[in-house]
Order: sequence, then C-alpha cells, then structure tokens
Amino acid sequence: MTQNDPEVRIPNRLKDITAFIVMDVLEKAHEMERRGVNVIHLEVGEPDFDTPQCVKEAVCKALQDGHTHYTHSLGMIELREAVAEHYADRYGVSVDPGQVVITSGTSPAMFTLCSVLLERGDQIIVSDPHYACYPNFVRFVEGELVYVRVLEEDGFQYRTEAIREKLTDKTQAVLINSPSNPTGNLLSEDRMKAIAELGPYVVSDEIYHGLVYEGKEHSILEFTDHAFVLNGFSKAFAMTGLRLGYMIAPKPFMRTIQKIQQNFFISPNSAVQMGGIAALREGGEDVKTMRRIYDERRRFMIRRLKEMGLGITVEPTGAFYVFANMKHVSLDSYKLAFDILEKAHVGVTPGIDFGDGGEGYIRFSYANSMENIAEGLDRLQTYLS
Ligand SMILES: Cc1ncc(COP(=O)(O)O)c(C=O)c1O
Repeated sequence: MTQNDPEVRIPNRLKDITAFIVMDVLEKAHEMERRGVNVIHLEVGEPDFDTPQCVKEAVCKALQDGHTHYTHSLGMIELREAVAEHYADRYGVSVDPGQVVITSGTSPAMFTLCSVLLERGDQIIVSDPHYACYPNFVRFVEGELVYVRVLEEDGFQYRTEAIREKLTDKTQAVLINSPSNPTGNLLSEDRMKAIAELGPYVVSDEIYHGLVYEGKEHSILEFTDHAFVLNGFSKAFAMTGLRLGYMIAPKPFMRTIQKIQQNFFISPNSAVQMGGIAALREGGEDVKTMRRIYDERRRFMIRRLKEMGLGITVEPTGAFYVFANMKHVSLDSYKLAFDILEKAHVGVTPGIDFGDGGEGYIRFSYANSMENIAEGLDRLQTYLS
C-alpha cells in the first residue's frame, strides 16, 4: 500500500495537515549532496554551533549517575525551579515552579497547549506569516485558525486593531512569537501590552529569546498572567537534538496538563533535564558568544542581500533569519526556492511555508558559518544576475 492508496482511511482531522516545506527542501538538498553536489544550507532553522560543554558534561554525568529512569510527569522539580528563577532574573516576573511543565521540546509543549486550551471549533488568532507548524497543531485538535496579516512595511508586527476586528465569542487565544520565525522581528513592548489587554489568553512562543541583537525581548508574563509561555532549549542553547522545552501555564490548567503528560508522554528525558539545569545556570556565557557571532552574520547577510536588491524594509533584530522580499524575481516562492537550490546549489526556505502572507518572500537562515554564508550569497548573486 502506498501513502496515497485510496484504501487507506486517513482521519478527517489529519487531512489538512500540511508538509513542512523546509524539510522538503532539505531532503532534496541531501539527495543532491549524495550525488556529490556541494550545497550551502541557508534553509535550516537549526543552530550550527555545538551544544555548550557544560550541557554535554551535565548530561553525561547524569547518565553515569543513573538518571535513566522516568521522572515526575511535569519534569524534575530542580529544572522547573531553574525555569522559574530564569524568568524572575531575566524579566522580573514571579513564576511558581508549579506552573511549569517540562516537555521534550517546544513542539510537544505546543501539542499539550492546544489540547488543553482548544475545544473543537474554538478559535486561535495566528499571524500570517507564522511559524510553519503552528496551524497543524491547531488542526489536530480541530480548533479553528484565524489569521491576521502582518505586513512588511509594519515590520511584520501585529496591528492590535486588526486582531480586535477578528475577535469573536469563540476566540480562545492570540498566538505571538517574538522574535519571530520567519521574520526575525521583535514585537514592540507597546503592542505586546495592547495584545495582553484584548481579553483572550495570549500564547507566547519565546523560543528565540536570548537571540536578540538590538533592543530587548519581553516575556508576555511582564504584561499579563492570562497567558501561556512556550519556550525551549533548541535555539539559544543549541540543543535541538536533545529535545527539551517547557510551558508556563496558569495554575488552574496544571492538573489537566499533568494528566496529558502522564498519559501521552509519561515524562521528559531524565538525563537531558539535567542538561537543561546546566544550560540555565551555567550556559549564559556560551549564549553570549553565540549571540555575538550570529549578530556579525546577521549584519553581513542583511548588507549583502540589500546590495543584491532584495527587499528588507525593517531589518530583523532577533532569531537567526532574514525574510527577504523577492517578489520582483518571482511570485512563486516554492518554485523559486527549488530553482535556487537546483541552479545555485543554495538551500533557502520559500515564504509560502509560513502562510499566504509569506508568498513572494524567501527566508534565509544565518545559522551557518560566515564562510558558508558568504559563499551561499555569492552563488545567489550569480544566480540573480
Ligand atoms: C517559532 C518556533 N517555535 C517552536 C519551534 C520548535 O522547537 P523545538 O525544537 O523546541 O520543538 C521552532 C523550531 O524551529 C520554532 O521556530
């Protein structure tokens, strides 16, 4: 039987689950590499840095010390305390460790969040463009997606009025992600505050916190407790493969969250949680070093892309992405991305991966060495000319 065999019954709620296009680009790039083609990867949203030594040592020690069994379903209390301390130190907010659930990455936290927050037909407001996977979590629990366009000329920031116009009695939450994937822009303090005052829960994906090069990131908890924070160790701590994340939720949801964890996940990975404690308590200098290097690459990439005539109206100041307007080259970003891959041997992500609002854009990641970025951009320049 093939995947498309008409005999196979796919549950309705999965019918609209879309592919993660960047993975299609990556898989195609790998296929080319197997044929001996040298591909420069500017598509992947994964740090190229090694995981900090303090984390690796803590995980190895944890294994040696026998941390190889289930932990509490909400995660080790020491890590939940470290998360609460981190939010107190960095943002001056008070988080009870009892509001923290540790997960195997931010993605499972998003799954748990949608399960606990959305009844079938409940609405969640999501920006367009947005991180590619968000809609699929919502579809999986049969929630309803309500998109609000964020515009390049507005720094891809939400207009509070545009959100207000979309509020209905079914709106459960507004999802924000600052710094944002794919745009690399930060939501201003004023707009976060205004969104917090709209009424529905705010779900704040803070996974790119720590990777901010100008200005300062804010946690939604500085403005409201009527919120859920999603965060993880993949990006700032370069721990993608260790799969560690967390959610901070209002207390009344915690018992249900605990039941979800107990049934569906049992517990997060025990030894890796020890790595998470080390990251939060000892990893600050490593993050600082990575941030400095990302910033050099960011400036370089923005300069080069602008010189090539790509549209960057508001320079990105966070995460590790530049979302460039390429409408003058093509209005079909999917085709364009594969054409760039095939002809220039540079992997890039088509803006359409991030929603209709991303069409005509290409996302460039600077999570690669300066040398590779320079080579990739040289190839792109030749392609464009
Ligand atoms: C905005 C955003 N949220 C969540 C994730 C998922 O991260 P994790 O590795 O913690 O599951 C990503 C990964 O690219 C992301 O860009």
